Amino acid sequence: MHTNDKSKSKSENAAYGKYDKMTYNRCGKSGVLLPALSLGLWHNFGGIDDFENAQDILKTAFDLGIVHFDLANNYGPPYGSAEQNFGKILKSNFSSHRDELFISTKAGYDMWPGPYGNWGSRKYLMASLEQSLKRMHLDYVDIFYHHRPDPETPLEETMLALADIVRQGKALYVGISNYNAQESEAAFKILKALRTPVILHQARYSMFDRWVEDELLDTLDLHAVGCIAFSPLAQGLLTDKYINGIPANSRAVKSRTYLEESQVHQHIDKIKSLNKIAERRQQKLPQMAIAWLLRKPQISSVLVGASSSNQLKENVKSLDNNAFSKDELDEIDAILKSS
Ligand SMILES: NC(=O)c1ccc[n+]([C@@H]2O[C@H](COP(=O)([O-])OP(=O)(O)OC[C@H]3O[C@@H](n4cnc5c(N)ncnc54)[C@H](OP(=O)(O)O)[C@@H]3O)[C@@H](O)[C@H]2O)c1
Repeated sequence: MHTNDKSKSKSENAAYGKYDKMTYNRCGKSGVLLPALSLGLWHNFGGIDDFENAQDILKTAFDLGIVHFDLANNYGPPYGSAEQNFGKILKSNFSSHRDELFISTKAGYDMWPGPYGNWGSRKYLMASLEQSLKRMHLDYVDIFYHHRPDPETPLEETMLALADIVRQGKALYVGISNYNAQESEAAFKILKALRTPVILHQARYSMFDRWVEDELLDTLDLHAVGCIAFSPLAQGLLTDKYINGIPANSRAVKSRTYLEESQVHQHIDKIKSLNKIAERRQQKLPQMAIAWLLRKPQISSVLVGASSSNQLKENVKSLDNNAFSKDELDEIDAILKSS
């Protein structure tokens, strides 16, 4: 029901029509539709970050129809703090909208000290999800991922833990992340035998990292699993922000991030050439980079990060111009393959 009550939050006043502006794509052959753009909380939502800004980004996302929020146990810093902040924001802004949201979390990387706070044991996954639910004040997540393959733990143990998490009602669906094609194939077979709804593979995919095209997408097709592409802007490289130098406060200069200034220097010529094509298409480079990923039918959603709500508003406009001519695609390929 619509309301004109100005005391309600921006989200509660959001026009229902927002859903008409966003595109929703099916994940594999499942019943789940995801927004073409989803929002990740890896950076900018932790205990060291500005809480008001984090809240503003989440409210803006929701109002744009971006209803999938992606977390992990160790997002912060400190570890766990992104889930904690998300839990607070959820409670004060979206409590009546839980069923409109698709929320994920993951476990698989370093989370707490000792032998039970990392990798892929049943012990770790079960305990970690329990902690995540408490931090977010949720009864269940929509999807729980194993965050990376564990070379030591038997895959059957990890997958059975995912299956049991679904049986316990603590996650509705499961996914895997950072598994290569062969590892994915093995995981999907076990999960399918256990009748566990595996609907997504979360994989790094951008113009600057195309490994999924040759290795993973065919496997996902075969198993009718969708792909959600993370770091689609190569952590901000695929924007125009670095073209005239490295701005203060960008990810490349912030401490406790994984983007180094050397990566900017390494890619700058390609960034400039791609930016010219984007200008010709009358769009911004991040909009073109996102549209370019969505050209692949296996991509259910592009999982962006944002340090401000304006970035999100700008990036969602990728949907206004997402068709590419063959000449444009060839030109982009040539730039990406140049040394
Ligand atoms: N499964 C995994 O192992 C894994 C790994 C990594 C990420 N992820 C997921 O993927 C999500 C997204 O990753 P990501 O943050 O690396 O994605 P990204 O979209 O490639 O990079 C986001 C960053 O790019 C910059 N940016 C975005 N839009 C911009 C614009 N219009 N103009 C200028 N700069 C812009 C901002 O950085 P500035 O701070 O410079 O403004 C922003 O924080 C994460 O939050 C997480 O949920 C998963």
